[in-house]
Amino acid sequence: MSFIMRLHRHFQRTVILLATFCVVSIIISAYYLYSGYKQENELSEVASEVDCGDLQHLPYRLMEVKAVKLFDASRTDSIVLVFVESQYSSLGQDIIMILESSRFQYHIEIATGKGDLPALTDKTKGKYVLIIYENILKYINMDSWSRSLLDKYCVEYGVGVIGFHRTNEKSLQSFQLKGFPFSIYGNLAVKDCCINPHSPLLRVTKSSKLERGSLPGTDWTVFQINHSTYQPVIFAKIKTPENLSPPVSKGAFFATIIHDLGVHDGIQRVLFGNNLNFWLHKLIFIDAISFLSGKKLELSLDRYILVDIDDIFVGKEGTRMNTNDVKALLETQNLLREQIRNFTFNLGFSGKFYHTGTEEEDEGDDCLLGSVDEFWWFPHMWSHMQPHLFHNESSLVEQMILNKKFALEHGIPTDMGYAVAPHHSGVYPVHVQLYEAWKKVWNIKITSTEEYPHLKPARYRRGFIHKNIMVLPRQTCGLFTHTIFYKEYPGGPRELDKSIQGGELFFTVVLNPISIFMTHLSNYGNDRLGLYTFVNLANFMQTWTNLRLQTLPPVQLAHKYFELFPDQKDPLWQNPCDDKRHRDIWSKEKTCDRLPKFLVIGPQKTGTTALFLFLVMHPSILSNSPSPKTFEEVQFFNRNNYHRGIDWYMDFFPIPSNVTTDFLFEKSANYFHSEEAPKRAASLVPKAKIISILIDPSDRAYSWYQHQRSHEDPAALKFSFYEVISAGPHAPTELKTLQKRCLVPGWYASHIERWLVYFPPFQLLIIDGQQLRTDPATVMDEVQKFLGVSPHYNYSEALTFDSHKGFWCQLLEEGKTKCLGKSKGRKYPPMDSDSRAFLSSYYRDHNVELSKLLHKLGQPLPSWLRQELQKVR
Ligand code: A3P
Repeated sequence: MSFIMRLHRHFQRTVILLATFCVVSIIISAYYLYSGYKQENELSEVASEVDCGDLQHLPYRLMEVKAVKLFDASRTDSIVLVFVESQYSSLGQDIIMILESSRFQYHIEIATGKGDLPALTDKTKGKYVLIIYENILKYINMDSWSRSLLDKYCVEYGVGVIGFHRTNEKSLQSFQLKGFPFSIYGNLAVKDCCINPHSPLLRVTKSSKLERGSLPGTDWTVFQINHSTYQPVIFAKIKTPENLSPPVSKGAFFATIIHDLGVHDGIQRVLFGNNLNFWLHKLIFIDAISFLSGKKLELSLDRYILVDIDDIFVGKEGTRMNTNDVKALLETQNLLREQIRNFTFNLGFSGKFYHTGTEEEDEGDDCLLGSVDEFWWFPHMWSHMQPHLFHNESSLVEQMILNKKFALEHGIPTDMGYAVAPHHSGVYPVHVQLYEAWKKVWNIKITSTEEYPHLKPARYRRGFIHKNIMVLPRQTCGLFTHTIFYKEYPGGPRELDKSIQGGELFFTVVLNPISIFMTHLSNYGNDRLGLYTFVNLANFMQTWTNLRLQTLPPVQLAHKYFELFPDQKDPLWQNPCDDKRHRDIWSKEKTCDRLPKFLVIGPQKTGTTALFLFLVMHPSILSNSPSPKTFEEVQFFNRNNYHRGIDWYMDFFPIPSNVTTDFLFEKSANYFHSEEAPKRAASLVPKAKIISILIDPSDRAYSWYQHQRSHEDPAALKFSFYEVISAGPHAPTELKTLQKRCLVPGWYASHIERWLVYFPPFQLLIIDGQQLRTDPATVMDEVQKFLGVSPHYNYSEALTFDSHKGFWCQLLEEGKTKCLGKSKGRKYPPMDSDSRAFLSSYYRDHNVELSKLLHKLGQPLPSWLRQELQKVR
């Protein structure tokens, strides 16, 4: 009995416990359900306020607004002043990347906590057209003196400010920025953003439908505006409002980018509540630059796109196009023409590979040729060989003729003027044989490459014109021969979509007025990723931008390119062996060793020929051979010889027997004062040492005059030296020309400064020409040390003073001497005192500058310069 009672009581207790547990869980669930509902409700309340579909219900009135007028931007240089956090800060680099891709000039400063500013004006001109702060707090918290200086500059020159705000602290926070009438909420996740269609900033950006979904990152800052001088540009919903303090009030408005119209203090500002990781922010950043710079820094809205399909018959079985693929290609071409005016695929062919696929693929080849007139065509090499492997132009010509015969047999047009070389071979670095053969067989006028000046970074790619062939830069679109299946896209298909939708490919088109893309046959068979990519790209561009897309035939495209970028016409040659990719397509028969290790740059009449003679006496120093035609200096870097290319230049030099110990050099005394030479030399031989000789510039001028007289220059014979140097602006042209050649090379400091822009000081040696004349052995010891050449050569024994010549000469066997010819070390009367006085005063400032420069370089002052400086005092 007692057992049954106990059982009964135990049962009762269990039931009560169970019931209690149920009640408690119901209460807890109800609580969470209710609070969850409430939270959802709060979220949707906030969300409903900022739904772009319903703009008129926003708490802030979005309407057309007038920003404060920007002043005439011609009062400033077109340079952007960028304050970065550090040299390596990632947002700073993103800002620079956009400026560089747009080819805008900029100046970087590291923003200090105090707010030190660089000089903002140069006489009456403003130095900067726009100011960008990577961290807007550096602007806001700068000391009041600097701030008022900067604000004054901005007001006076109508210069705007762009700034980025990102909260660092982990906790959510809300605060006001000093002196700004808006609140900031930091460290948020946001979603569903849209564009204020009335923002005056919008130019490239088209106000489009709501971009649904989360935006990248959880460190967003949003702005709550309560002043009419601010306009939101982009706004978004807050995803994580929990714990926000003070709580976000109903009716709050959240902008991720705001535009300060400048009504408040006359300065327009655009503030970003995050970095540039979100593509729409990047697009608005581009628009903000153009708007705030008063259109000075803006690209046109026209975008030219050319899509090449290379190797149209080259591809393994299973990767090629069949008939259906060709039909799809044609249909898509028509479809694309609705968004890209005149869109036409440009097909590259190597005839040898025609009909080398499966049966269906061979039918695809025929289907392509059946629609030959629907496309544009360009030749590749007949057998897809790399041109740099052909040393003889004639064998290249033979190959090209085979491909041309194929074209003619199949009705392929042969007059488009465009060609592409397999693997960029021969285009850059230039294989001159290719250029010649192209012109002979195909009358080629245009080609394209990714290799000039280098593949990476892509934004530095440029064009050039060589031998009348216009070389255009080519861009990458993320499709390669092996990208055949969507699912197998490297890194996953999402990567391709990301690139199209606001990623790399999208911004390639946004930032390049002209984009030539290379795709391959395999991108149009199977999953047809080529079609997928360009259709989606065109759609995305049309949805989000106001860009006008179109395609031009290659010849017109190339003319357009150099119309837009005329300064790119002249090439800048580099050493083909300095870049692995270039080395791989550089002919093995052309070494890179036939380039000088040092240059004697002049100026003329300072003793450069004597130095040349002394240098070649050294067993390890080898000069170029003289020009077979003129027997004169090579003069490659300063003149049009440069356009003959590096093969021409290298042919002047012997192949060194020992690359390490042999020193090739070249002397062209005109390099010294040439505008182009320093840049060109630094590009081709960046490690070369540079030797210059200076004598009193007055003596140099006089020596040049005497030199011209002995060459029977009519002006030099007709006019006295004084008349030449003192001729006024209205003097006859021949007199002014002679005057220039006498005087300009003597502006030593400014010429040396130009060389120092491109070469580090330790690569530059300045020789005292007076000392070279009187004590050459000592100078030659110095030169050997500077070059690091061995063995040490004893010039004291190898040189002797020739009293008959009146100069030092090479000592030969049996006491004979080898001196310079009669044109060096001439006999002529000394300079008259009036001319000396005139020149002394003419060169005064230049000489003062030179003394400062030599002091900075730690080089001793030559005696003539000391004497001239004493006259100044
Ligand atoms: P002058 O002929 O006016 O005296 P460059 O070779 O650069 O054109 O310079 C020519 C000048 O080199 C000559 O100018 C001469 O003064 C100077 N010079 C210096 N050392 C010399 C040397 N050992 N032999 C001949 N000329 C020398």
